[in-house]
Amino acid sequence: MSDLAGKRVLLIVPGGIAAFKIPELIRLLRGRDCGVTCVLTQSGAQFVTKLTLQALTETTVYSDLFSLTDENEMGHIQLSRSADLVVVAPATANILAKMAAGIGDDLATTLLLATDKPVLAAPAMNVRMWLHAATQANMALLAARGVEVVGPDDGAMACNEYGPGRMSEPPAIVAAIEALLAPPHALDGAHAPLAGRHAPLAGKHAIVTSGPTHEPIDPVRYIANRSSGRQGHAIAASLAALGARVTLVSGPVSVPDPPGVTVLHIESARQMLAACQDALPAEIAVCAAAVADWRVAIAASGKIKKTPGAASPTLELVPNPDILATLSAPGPRRPHLVVGFAAETDDLMANAQAKRTRKGCNWIVANDVSPETGIMGGAENAVHLITADGVEDWPRLAKDEVARRLATRIAEALA
Ligand code: C5P
Repeated sequence: MSDLAGKRVLLIVPGGIAAFKIPELIRLLRGRDCGVTCVLTQSGAQFVTKLTLQALTETTVYSDLFSLTDENEMGHIQLSRSADLVVVAPATANILAKMAAGIGDDLATTLLLATDKPVLAAPAMNVRMWLHAATQANMALLAARGVEVVGPDDGAMACNEYGPGRMSEPPAIVAAIEALLAPPHALDGAHAPLAGRHAPLAGKHAIVTSGPTHEPIDPVRYIANRSSGRQGHAIAASLAALGARVTLVSGPVSVPDPPGVTVLHIESARQMLAACQDALPAEIAVCAAAVADWRVAIAASGKIKKTPGAASPTLELVPNPDILATLSAPGPRRPHLVVGFAAETDDLMANAQAKRTRKGCNWIVANDVSPETGIMGGAENAVHLITADGVEDWPRLAKDEVARRLATRIAEALA
């Protein structure tokens, strides 16, 4: 039987182009025997019809606040509380702003004010709207109030721009719903995340590294690794959602700063190490950054000129400090739990096991980043958690979901 069987989702559908994915979301939920009741906003009805939603949910679709006052119909308070979870998808900048401000000017926003159930938002909007300070401030406020968030993903948008803002794909939204509604430990033997209201990591400080480092060759050129920062940033957000005070030390990335987290922006490996050491003491360190292994011994102070006919320059490289190994070294300031990542293309498990011993960290999250997996820069990850007790194989999951599970495992380990 599905973990979602018998659960009920109240699905609020605001007006965004990503609403075209909603019928698929409903189909997936109904296929898991999860009940779905839709509330379609006036602008949502411009993108998806009431008739479609009604046919797929096999129940009434609500859209008008005042029709609910009819005694034969469900009052809006009751409707907002009869579900196990309220899902807002696509969560537009507009409805997120109304949620943050506590505005209730239609059925959807009134329900969101009246509900006593967990709320999950799947943001979807233009990249600039998502990165706008107002939207980010609203997200921080909503996260602090316990609203759960899935996505948004990076990618090409309907408006011909590229970046974060695409609504998560329906399977990732279902995974997030399952994580909130399925009982703990029911998910493939791994661990279900806790809802944002619980704070098992309250009072704990976590340092997370994320993104690439840039090692200058001259003022305009640099050496770097491929890394979007998505996984590290999601881990920082998940640890914060469980109540930790989080310092995120991030290399140059295009993903936005996660809400509720202190972000230190650095460029080079040496700056990343210094920022981590300055942030100590901490109980938890998660090194998810793709740190460049080498830097140029002496970066040129001016742009190296390309002179026709002249020999190409030779770069002398020197090793960078290993941040994970440095934080893992025994000593009074060593965090209790240090977690490293092993992104490998060959002999994944053997290399990852060896890395755990070599670096001296407690856990390694191992993932296969061969190009055919599509994991590098993508929205999903398939990882193995290597601890002193053995290996846990996790299913392929959205990176947000990997982050939630890892944060939950960390909370359990420190309990
Ligand atoms: O040695 P490798 O780069 O494969 O190890 C990966 C792990 O080590 C990751 O957790 C990464 O963040 C960390 N690392 C680091 N400093 C480095 C190199 C890697 O913290 N200089």
